[in-house]
Amino acid sequence: MTRFTVNDRPVEYRMDEDTPLLWALRDASNLTGTKYGCGTGDCGACMVEIDGEAIRSCLVTIGELEGRFVTTIEALSRDRSHPVQQAWAAENVPQCGFCQSGMIMAAAVLIKKNPDPSKSDIDEAINNVCRCGTYPRIREAIQRAAR
Ligand code: FES
Repeated sequence: MTRFTVNDRPVEYRMDEDTPLLWALRDASNLTGTKYGCGTGDCGACMVEIDGEAIRSCLVTIGELEGRFVTTIEALSRDRSHPVQQAWAAENVPQCGFCQSGMIMAAAVLIKKNPDPSKSDIDEAINNVCRCGTYPRIREAIQRAAR
């Protein structure tokens, strides 16, 4: 059994240690804001924060997380006042919306590490896929959130 923390709460998953974190979050914890896009680490829809880093949760097994701290989009959304989410709304970023939670998690981690990212910093740090191509609005929202 693996024990770690998700959104400030201790969790113990009685699942195979090779289970990807994405499925533990969605199936065992009902944290369905973290999305399944590709399952192979390419799209970024499943991005969460683990110990301050933006990580694709389809690529991490729960067996690797003993004692670590995971944050999902649900924690960011608790009071709806996270600067990235406010900027997302102000810049009208979402289109179909499927990539949004992963994008927002990646953006929140970037701003924590780099409070004044340039457009090239953003392009370098965020390699999530948006199938609607909202990248210009995503860049504007991240820079707005950083202001
Ligand atoms: Fe994890 Fe696409 S579902 S990167």
